[in-house]
Amino acid sequence: MRVLVTGVTGQVGGALLTALDGKADVVPAPRAVLDLAQGQMIASALDRMAPDLIINPAAYTAVDRAEDERDLAYRINGEAPGHIASWAARRNVPLIHLSTDYVYDGAGERAWREDDITGPLGVYGASKLAGEDAIRAAKGPHLIIRTSWVYAAKGTNFLRTIARLAAERPELRIVADQVGAPTSAQVIADSIATLVAKHASDLPRRFAAADGLVHLAAAGETSWHGFATAIVDGLRARGAPLKAQSIVPIRTEDYPTKAKRPANSRLDLTRLQRVFGVTTPHWSQALAAELDVLARELAPQAG
Ligand SMILES: NC(=O)c1ccc[n+]([C@@H]2O[C@H](COP(=O)([O-])OP(=O)(O)OC[C@H]3O[C@@H](n4cnc5c(N)ncnc54)[C@H](OP(=O)(O)O)[C@@H]3O)[C@@H](O)[C@H]2O)c1
Repeated sequence: MRVLVTGVTGQVGGALLTALDGKADVVPAPRAVLDLAQGQMIASALDRMAPDLIINPAAYTAVDRAEDERDLAYRINGEAPGHIASWAARRNVPLIHLSTDYVYDGAGERAWREDDITGPLGVYGASKLAGEDAIRAAKGPHLIIRTSWVYAAKGTNFLRTIARLAAERPELRIVADQVGAPTSAQVIADSIATLVAKHASDLPRRFAAADGLVHLAAAGETSWHGFATAIVDGLRARGAPLKAQSIVPIRTEDYPTKAKRPANSRLDLTRLQRVFGVTTPHWSQALAAELDVLARELAPQAG
């Protein structure tokens, strides 16, 4: 199976290259090959690569900057997925597309289910929701995967930021009233690779059984404060030299950002298990694997 993967310089796309290695004929499609901001070029680029399956984690992911770059965010997140999905629908090529917990408004305490009402709070979430709608409108075989709080040992993300701040400062102040599941890019990539391998012969039918939409995140839940505390404790246990002595819980309103973020990002994972037979590890277990990698990078060089 020729599997085209976009966003390969990003967290999830990069992890997918590793997870699919040896399991499929992977065709990496970085921005230079498939620029999602150039909608009119997408079909001809896909013609050249002729994939049997498309996985699209590429996105405009700068949540705050999107408030000022609405047009670009919508072109990449809202319109490009529609171009990809139309191409795929015409050829009956299955499409797996990554979306986000930011399509929900974050109200309440219970975990969101896939058929709950959406209500994005900012441009990024709204642009991602527009991309989902465009994919559904193309009516081809598709699976939209909503995930949350993505990080990896490499790249630009919360884990790396906390590791840097904890090395520089005695005190960190971290938001404690937003709850979700930190999800490593590796967990997402491994789950997608498993799902594809398990159902390779009937992906369109499986996708339809999930109504084209599934949540995929690590198990369990925490706040950004809980996540930061686990990162600092985990790095210290691995011998990383850190200055941080206290991690102070703060409220969202004490850390103003341009874009509003959902307070409740809990995602119900029942459908992932029921339709695809895929379960994910607890977020703390997945974090341990990333911390092992990061701690090796941060360790003072011997000699
Ligand atoms: N990060 C999160 O916390 C989070 C949470 C929930 C859902 N998600 C979703 O999960 C998916 C993967 O996120 P991620 O964290 O892996 O993203 P990421 O690390 O920010 O990577 C984004 C990727 O998209 C590519 N890209 C951006 N603009 C492009 C364009 N015009 N044409 C082609 N490629 C372009 C980037 O390529 P360049 O290197 O060339 O810029 C990069 O490879 C996204 O769909 C995102 O919306 C993310």
